[in-house]
Amino acid sequence: MSRYVMGNYGRFPLALTRGEGSWIWDEVGKKYLDFATGIAVCSLGHCHPAIQEALRDQSAKLIHCSNLFQIREQAELAEFIVERVVRQSGRIFFCNSGAEANDALIKLARKFGHDSAASHGSARYEMVTCTNSFHGRTLGGIAATGQDKVKKGFEPLLEGFTHVPFNDCDALRAAVGPQTAAILFEVVQGEGGIHVATPEFLQTARELRDEFGLLVMLDEVQCGFGRTGDWNAWETVLRDVDGEFSPDAVSWAKGMGGGFPIGGIWASDRLAPGADFRVCDVLGPGTHGSTFGGTPLASAVGMAVLKTIEEDGLIDNARSLGEQIRTAVSSWNHPLIAAIRGLGLLIGFVIDETALSDCVAFGESGQTPSLFVVNQLMKDADLLTVPAGANVVRWLPPLNVTEEEVEEALRRMRHTLDQLLKR
Ligand SMILES: Cc1ncc(COP(=O)(O)O)c(C=O)c1O
Repeated sequence: MSRYVMGNYGRFPLALTRGEGSWIWDEVGKKYLDFATGIAVCSLGHCHPAIQEALRDQSAKLIHCSNLFQIREQAELAEFIVERVVRQSGRIFFCNSGAEANDALIKLARKFGHDSAASHGSARYEMVTCTNSFHGRTLGGIAATGQDKVKKGFEPLLEGFTHVPFNDCDALRAAVGPQTAAILFEVVQGEGGIHVATPEFLQTARELRDEFGLLVMLDEVQCGFGRTGDWNAWETVLRDVDGEFSPDAVSWAKGMGGGFPIGGIWASDRLAPGADFRVCDVLGPGTHGSTFGGTPLASAVGMAVLKTIEEDGLIDNARSLGEQIRTAVSSWNHPLIAAIRGLGLLIGFVIDETALSDCVAFGESGQTPSLFVVNQLMKDADLLTVPAGANVVRWLPPLNVTEEEVEEALRRMRHTLDQLLKR
């Protein structure tokens, strides 16, 4: 089918044509329960009426105009994100994807390092990120990403990135110095296998901010906008911890448009550490831009998505159904599941490779444990999930998934896992 499309993706042999809520149909009319949601994109499920309405209404008024003009829908979406999502003052820059959002963060870090040279003593451009991270496929994104496989063959890479093991506070302290402009990490590592940042790691980053006058930047591209059971994943991590936490900048995309491409960053309006300018003013006129970032159409859809998340109580739904899934799967004590990780509706089931190696079909498949199980769930249980690294099967149901759909997905996965033990 994809004879004329570049072969840069490993694709499942499934062509999807229609979706409704948590369900999706392929070309031959087979119906799947979709707990992959375009990898955390379709936060309201498929073809939600609020998205349809926003697309219909806005596309009849104005689809695109340049950022050379005022865009009311963009301004309103930015206000919603600042006032209701982040709830800390700052400003938003809009783009179209997660990698672009992280590129904006990298440029913000570099410009900050440059502009604060006088007060700091020298210009800085170095950033500390984490091993096993994923920050996107642009040259900036792969340089920031702490996985060799995404970098290989694209050298020379953008300079100045050091990677430290995720959640290793001592390694973070050791890597940061007067040369560091920013620390950047995912609050939940998604592609790297669903690893959740510890409160200590977030707090250590904050302490280093004050000590070295650097920026703390969070990549919430996959885990943001309600998925973890709070608007922001860092709030979920720090729920039981005293004291304020405030990043300097955050990146998003994926769930932000519910399937319509939109990404963005928030930058705080506090004074940048050790500087006499605000973080949100670092990328001033002429320093950065995007033709398509925050168009009237993208902004109207983004607003419809975020308002629906708020008005329909979907953040609470993500928290409680996430808990329901974790409790149910833990109670199975299933030999094929070595651990359950994640927050809210960003869940990783760690597959026990030793137990799986008793399954002849797995041995013959030549696949990683996660890809093998994801394939089995798709073929045997009509349940779509996503691998996260070599050993983790990831569930990313829509934030408005129902209890019954969760029960159904649990039933399907349990059945498939039981079958695998018998083969
Ligand atoms: C944490 C994180 N950052 C950045 C990206 C890149 O986003 P995009 O594919 O929209 O460029 C991803 C995509 O999976 C991601 O999970």
